[in-house]
Amino acid sequence: MSRFLVTGSSDGIGAGIAAELESRGHAVVRHARDEAKAARLRAAGADDVVVGDLASLASTRAMAADLSARPPFDVVVHNAGWLPPEGERPVTGDGLERTFQVNALSAYLLTALLPLPSRLVYVSSNSIRRGRIDLDDLQHEANWTSDSAYAGSKLAMTAIAFAAARRYPAVLCNAVHPGWIRTKMSGDVAPLDVAAGADTPVWLATSDDPEATVTGTFFHERRVVRLNEQAYDPATQDALVERCAALTGVALPAA
Ligand SMILES: NC(=O)c1ccc[n+]([C@@H]2O[C@H](COP(=O)([O-])OP(=O)(O)OC[C@H]3O[C@@H](n4cnc5c(N)ncnc54)[C@H](OP(=O)(O)O)[C@@H]3O)[C@@H](O)[C@H]2O)c1
Repeated sequence: MSRFLVTGSSDGIGAGIAAELESRGHAVVRHARDEAKAARLRAAGADDVVVGDLASLASTRAMAADLSARPPFDVVVHNAGWLPPEGERPVTGDGLERTFQVNALSAYLLTALLPLPSRLVYVSSNSIRRGRIDLDDLQHEANWTSDSAYAGSKLAMTAIAFAAARRYPAVLCNAVHPGWIRTKMSGDVAPLDVAAGADTPVWLATSDDPEATVTGTFFHERRVVRLNEQAYDPATQDALVERCAALTGVALPAA
């Protein structure tokens, strides 16, 4: 039995990942945005639930402190994510563009604050194909659209995953597109269910197949895909990590 943390596991693909891991006898700490959602998870039988709003740096730090007081994790799955509605550029109480904060910066902060596990899985998206990391405008102050913010944030999350892979050679750090999955994010038009969306993340989190025990790689349906070269560029990764450190006040620790 191994210990797993799955962020954003109150709903959608994260709930599917947690359920699959639990069905294999693993210990899973689930994560909910607030106490009401955590209470629903506990009432449904979840043994251990952590609460944290990833749109708040203080709440994300408190969540990391709460988790650090527990036994360390073998695997952390960064699954939580948010797709903004079209309209106004959303800004959090920290003054940060919300999509970037929830999808990329919070994953950076949790990676930096939690003890290193042996595997890190980052649930990204094939939208990174059309994403761009603009180091001078990470938060899309110019020309914000829902799609550019979402794709850019998932690309930034992927570059953070690959930066972690370079920094922590003993840790398997990979990113994955889960597929187009029926959840509250994608709606009923999506063709696949959450079990299909959980398949590759769970495989990366658990399998000893040689194909799954690589690092710094992007997967879809258990196959390696290469969707955006910017994610693989060490200079972009390092500059992004520096920006995230400046925004959070927390450096990514040395190996
Ligand atoms: N569905 C797809 O077709 C698809 C495709 C590509 C990539 N993805 C990625 O897959 C991951 C899971 O998405 P999903 O489709 O399962 O979406 P979902 O059903 O909306 O679930 C997202 C999860 O993230 C949590 N979350 C969002 N904002 C949060 C915040 N501020 N603080 C804490 N938790 C927060 C949600 O909590 P609440 O329930 O409280 O909102 C929920 O548990 C995301 O990273 C997404 O980008 C999904």
